[in-house]
Amino acid sequence: MAEPDQTTEESGGGDAGGPDVVAAGAGTAHGSDEIMIELQEVTKRYPGSNEDAIESLTLQVPKGEILVLVGPSGCGKSTALRLINRMIEPTSGHIIFDGEDVTTVDADHLRRRIGYVIQQIGLFPHRTIADNIATVPRLSGWDKQRTDARVDELLETVGMDPSMYRDRYPNELSGGQAQRIGVARALGADPLVMLMDEPFGAIDPITRDRLQNEFLRLQQELRKTIVFVTHDIDEAIKMGDRIAILGERSRIAQFDTPERILAAPANDFVEDFIGSGATLQGLSLERVRDVQLNTDYPVVRHDVGVTEAQRVLETSSEDWLLVLDDDDRPARWVTLDHLDRTDKRLIENGRKVTALAEPEDTLRDALEEMLLSNAGATVAIDGRGKYHGVIELETLMNVLQRMRREAKAHYARHAEPDTDDTSVDA
Ligand SMILES: Nc1ncnc2c1ncn2[C@@H]1O[C@H](COP(=O)(O)OP(=O)(O)OP(=O)(O)O)[C@@H](O)[C@H]1O
Ligand SMILES: [Mg+2]
Repeated sequence: MAEPDQTTEESGGGDAGGPDVVAAGAGTAHGSDEIMIELQEVTKRYPGSNEDAIESLTLQVPKGEILVLVGPSGCGKSTALRLINRMIEPTSGHIIFDGEDVTTVDADHLRRRIGYVIQQIGLFPHRTIADNIATVPRLSGWDKQRTDARVDELLETVGMDPSMYRDRYPNELSGGQAQRIGVARALGADPLVMLMDEPFGAIDPITRDRLQNEFLRLQQELRKTIVFVTHDIDEAIKMGDRIAILGERSRIAQFDTPERILAAPANDFVEDFIGSGATLQGLSLERVRDVQLNTDYPVVRHDVGVTEAQRVLETSSEDWLLVLDDDDRPARWVTLDHLDRTDKRLIENGRKVTALAEPEDTLRDALEEMLLSNAGATVAIDGRGKYHGVIELETLMNVLQRMRREAKAHYARHAEPDTDDTSVDA
């Protein structure tokens, strides 16, 4: 079904406010628990339908955070965004925006404080890229100079050369570029809040991954409050500070951090939804710098001599000895067999160390390295390449156990997770 092209454009009628209705840059409230958006028992039934599209949805979005709504097709995710943006009215319930019940606020005024990236991008085809991006600044009464400057700034922000793209039309862009313009347009007047409906939906996995990374980097600076819709759990885990997993009619199956959802799925529905990749996803949320490395691993400098190397390896329970070079960088993996069989110098013996992980790498990266490594272990190094410790399968299992333990302890302290086992029937 085609989405109605309901962007801020269509709301341009009564321009009630001057430039000062455009909220100043956000970002100061990050880390606080101040709530930016709150839905209180919101129900939506579309006219002529005999079923609720959304049934009694209650949730909060703290300032400066990304909340991801994830759930199967038709569960009401786009409807929820349209309700927050007041393109449509709830059948019952309340929507609180920055402390105000928005049913009492002029909808135009509200929409200018919200950037909206609609599903399927929704650029205006008959307008240039610059005009598309300028939509909200113009509605807000910005003069030409300020608007032009803002357009160029936003094009640069999303990594597109203004001189090259400013005057093109949407059909002269690739899908990924069009999605970036959608994001730039939503950022137009520096909104407090961004509603993003599958903004990276229609692009190949590699470009998508890059756009996600760019967007997360941007968010580090901008600290917008974002409601981000996807039906892809991997994207939800990557993008969300918190995730709401929705079932039919947007009933919340679980609402929590990605870490805790992966470590302690609230019910079978969530477990099915996150799927068998949950463990790997969990590992992608932890960084090497945060784990307890194995520092008892048999390790020698290459100049200690073969006899000493043999002694160290024999007194350990490991099969492989790690040999470091002059600068304490991991160089070779050797076994007793290597040491017995040849009289090569240590620095040339055995196999080259290939599997390395830096502090910023995720444990998932470390695992992938491990699977390809000669010795079944990944060597952790510091920023300058010096040996730090070893990551083995056991290291990763300990991390997963700790995550599960922490999630369980959290739920024990805070009663049960938001769960509704009986009504979720996707
Ligand atoms: N304008 C409308 N009039 C009547 N019913 C609608 C309208 N828009 C959506 N619906 C219905 O409301 C339900 C929720 O639709 P919605 O578009 O919010 O789902 P969604 O979660 O965004 O799905 P998708 O992942 O496919 O985008 C669906 O059953 C849909 O058919
Ligand atoms: Mg949708």
